[in-house]
Amino acid sequence: MSGDPSTKNDTAAPSTGAPTSEETTPAWIVNPVGPLRGDVSVRGSKNGVTKHMVAAMLADTPSRISNCPDVGDVAITAGMLEALGCGVEVVDGVANIDPRFIESSRVPLRFSGLNRIPILMVGPLLHRIGHAFVPLVGGDEIGARPLDFHVDALRKMGAEIEFTAEGLEAKAVKLQGAHIELPYPSVGATETILMTAVLAEGRTVLDNAATEPEVIELALFLQRMGARIEMRPNRRFIIDGVESLSGAAHHLKGDRIEAFSYLVAGLITGGEVRVHGCSQDRLVTAISTLQGMGARFEITDSSISAWADKLTPAAVQTDTHPGFMTDWQSPMVALFTQCEGISVMYETVFENRFTYVPALKQMGAQIELYNTPLGSIETRFVGSSTPCSVVVSGGNQLIGTQVDVPDIRGGFAYVLAAAAAEGQTTITGTHHLDRGYNRPIENFEQLGLDIKRVDVAVPAPLL
Ligand code: EPU
Repeated sequence: MSGDPSTKNDTAAPSTGAPTSEETTPAWIVNPVGPLRGDVSVRGSKNGVTKHMVAAMLADTPSRISNCPDVGDVAITAGMLEALGCGVEVVDGVANIDPRFIESSRVPLRFSGLNRIPILMVGPLLHRIGHAFVPLVGGDEIGARPLDFHVDALRKMGAEIEFTAEGLEAKAVKLQGAHIELPYPSVGATETILMTAVLAEGRTVLDNAATEPEVIELALFLQRMGARIEMRPNRRFIIDGVESLSGAAHHLKGDRIEAFSYLVAGLITGGEVRVHGCSQDRLVTAISTLQGMGARFEITDSSISAWADKLTPAAVQTDTHPGFMTDWQSPMVALFTQCEGISVMYETVFENRFTYVPALKQMGAQIELYNTPLGSIETRFVGSSTPCSVVVSGGNQLIGTQVDVPDIRGGFAYVLAAAAAEGQTTITGTHHLDRGYNRPIENFEQLGLDIKRVDVAVPAPLL
């Protein structure tokens, strides 16, 4: 058996609007208009919907997932499920998944490198067919993102796994429950284990599990399907395997990354955005952090709005839930550029999550990168040579320019910076944004921003 292959780069799916010609590429043009004000509704998250679609594979009857976002990752995941023989229909934000006719255990190679979902399909395919082939996983280039926790857990539960040049081959006669302690509370590995343990023979005890809201939401969906899952204190799940699961219906909870990002869109421009569709409990640390910087909130059962007379700088470190999530990091750094004084952001989860910083600097932001931990907890990547901290000297006017999106969350930081800048910004590489954000252009237009899709000449790489 060979080792864990390196993760394949994020090549864009045709359906997500990636560059199609050598001469031009899709772009967004942003012209700032001053304070952004108004209402935005968020739907279920990219990182929630796709996992629910995979979980539906485990049932004997169809599932119905509503409040789905209109994002490229749903189309990619639907394509993979259909290639296995699974029925998928997504209409008006409702996904009906019919797993009864799954007959193939091979996710085709054309899905190689598109997102992180294939590895999550291994457990469900082993239960259904006893074999699985999944191509190399992709997703954002925000770190090495190895699969060792997933693979070690699957092996512990009785799967035979081999890496090939093209992906991962797995087989199992009958998967067994096991005691698994994760070296780090990985979201994806926790989801792999939950979706494998629910139909395994016997009991699985999972320690040091991730408890992100999207993970808990998935566990509750599995329980709704008939799974026996107990949640214990101290990051422990106890799962007793059952014989079969039935399809279930679920209305996805609101995307906390989008919700935070739109609240920041209001704050960074000196306006006020009211976000509907994401509950307060999913944003507790985002809200308390922004409150610490001087932001004020109106919170109701159905909406959250934020505004500020003046924002002060802050020192923030990313962490697993309930800490400040890594996906909130880039919008927050964009906000730091507009807070007078010195702010610090320390990234502890992924080792390559500051690739958007050079473009912000090109827009006039004063940001320095350090590979010194400027926080109190250890990073996942001790010894790595990539920067884990940034120091932002905020308060100066940003200037619009042409920038290329490195990854989904970094890309959104460009839109925020562009909204606060002087002059026009052209953003290329927007297929990343279309993969993960629900109708962003429409949402920003609703807030008053002058933003449109165009085709522009392919930019020269940033030196
Ligand atoms: N890790 C390992 N080995 C593994 C799995 C993870 O070393 O087998 C490491 C990772 O390299 C990382 C840390 O553990 O340093 C945490 O990774 P985790 O598994 O929690 O992340 P993930 O499941 O790959 C999901 C989201 C990310 C989000 C993280 C953290 C999806 C598809 N992706 O990734 O979302 O940042 O959890 O909350 O659910 C995004 O949406 O832009 C995004 C990157």
